[in-house]
Amino acid sequence: MSDRLRFGILGCGVIGPHHARAITGMPDIAELVAVADTVPDRAQKVAGEYGCAHHDNAADLLGREDIHAVCICTPSGTHAEHAMDALRAGKHVVIEKPVDVQLGVIDALIEVQRATNLKAAVISQHRWDIATQIVHEATRAGRFGRLTLGTAQVSWWRSQGYYDSGEWRGTWALDGGGALMNQSIHTLDLLQWVMGPITEVSAYTGLLAHERIEVEDAAVAILKFANGALGLLKATTAAYPGLTARLEVHGDRGSAIISNDELDYYHSAPEGEQGADYGASGSGNQAEEVLSQYGTRESGPTAGSDPASLSMTHRDQLADFICAVRENREPLVNVEEARKVVAVILAIYDSARHGGRPTHL
Ligand SMILES: NC(=O)c1ccc[n+]([C@@H]2O[C@H](COP(=O)([O-])OP(=O)(O)OC[C@H]3O[C@@H](n4cnc5c(N)ncnc54)[C@H](O)[C@@H]3O)[C@@H](O)[C@H]2O)c1
Repeated sequence: MSDRLRFGILGCGVIGPHHARAITGMPDIAELVAVADTVPDRAQKVAGEYGCAHHDNAADLLGREDIHAVCICTPSGTHAEHAMDALRAGKHVVIEKPVDVQLGVIDALIEVQRATNLKAAVISQHRWDIATQIVHEATRAGRFGRLTLGTAQVSWWRSQGYYDSGEWRGTWALDGGGALMNQSIHTLDLLQWVMGPITEVSAYTGLLAHERIEVEDAAVAILKFANGALGLLKATTAAYPGLTARLEVHGDRGSAIISNDELDYYHSAPEGEQGADYGASGSGNQAEEVLSQYGTRESGPTAGSDPASLSMTHRDQLADFICAVRENREPLVNVEEARKVVAVILAIYDSARHGGRPTHL
């Protein structure tokens, strides 16, 4: 039991309980010791449900000597500050996305993390979706040939009630942005992870379907990747009633489409395949075949966990973090890695503020 990594959770709103479920779902390697929230009822509720201690402030949580790692689940614009406090208190950290909303404070966090020599992971749980892993592996191995186009489309809906549910939501200071910084960051992160670094953006943003928020609820952008490929982004929380999150990757030897986290389409040209001069309108879908070759999640890092659990990919990412601590290696998504998508989003905001002028990264 003593080799279990002992966790605390800071922030018990919407996402904090997912961390509690993920941690308690890995009893062989992790233990939930305590949670904290400045709204005491929220901490008490999570503590009651998961059988741990609770506090009404961060200092008491960070002061506990029986905690090795802290999950930061507070509003986005407070992440780096809380993470630096936790690192200085000698704790490893798991930080919810986005790592923070300004590059300056993210860079300060990187310095503290390096100086303390503790581990810091940032949540991007969809990198652990099987569809994402397949497409990432395929692009890295060149199975789609030369990459030509990549698109991320997030056609979601968030009601005014959602934005009104927390004072920090929809503010520049604490949410750091809207449909992009809060919601579409997941799909944009996957896009740049599978296609490679984004070097230039031209964008427009709008606030079209909500009031009492400062930030965008719609954004479009044209993207250029370092490898020469081109990209498109559509990101909104103003598409009633809320539709899909979709990622498309194209190359001159294959394509893949992920829709709502599932692999919808996959084709990688077998050696010698020529194809018709005018293409074949999406025929030759190999998705089922590659999915069956990949195996099921039961063979993954959290084998035996409940596949229906909403917290399953959080669990997979936390398992990677725990391995990183044990093996003294970097987690798959460390702060430097998580900084990339924030830099792209801030470049998109910059371009939109300047009437769509290209912004270079
Ligand atoms: N990975 C995902 O899919 C996902 C989903 C939802 C939210 N998130 C991220 O999680 C973070 C929190 O979002 P949420 O929807 O849970 O917000 P929320 O408002 O529901 O919860 C945040 C909680 O933090 C508490 N808090 C604020 N300041 C605190 C402090 N100094 N000390 C202790 N507690 C404090 C608040 O009282 C609140 O209960 C955001 O950064 C968001 O982007 C990620």
